[in-house]
Amino acid sequence: MSKRVNRVLILCFGSVLISLSSFASGGDFERGKMLYENQCQGCHESVVHIESRRTVDSLHKLRQQVVRWSDEVETKWGKEDIADVLEYLNKQHYQLEDEHT
Ligand code: HEC
Repeated sequence: MSKRVNRVLILCFGSVLISLSSFASGGDFERGKMLYENQCQGCHESVVHIESRRTVDSLHKLRQQVVRWSDEVETKWGKEDIADVLEYLNKQHYQLEDEHT
């Protein structure tokens, strides 16, 4: 393969990586906050997210709980909505690391 082609490939790959990383950073915090405040906040006022009471200790479990609650409350949230709420809850309350679930 010529050097020139190589360089073009590297450039392409780089821009794919950049767009992937902005995509993978996942949910939209502000949107998640809004969704959460509309549908969930009323019930638990973020009390259940306080450290001493929480049962969630991984991003995976947090996602399970968000899915569970969105079912229970019948929010009809899609994947994107779940991701946004997850982003919001994690940034706001949990600060869990993504363990590639
Ligand atoms: C009917 C009241 C109610 C509503 C509405 C509600 N929750 Fe909850 N939630 C609770 C209670 C009570 C707990 C703690 C006990 C349990 O997990 O069953 C909890 C726990 C959780 C937890 C786990 C907290 C932890 O760290 O252990 C998450 C995450 C959560 N809720 C997310 C949501 C989301 C997202 C919504 C909106 C779709 C929602 N909840 C709506 C009552 C509610």
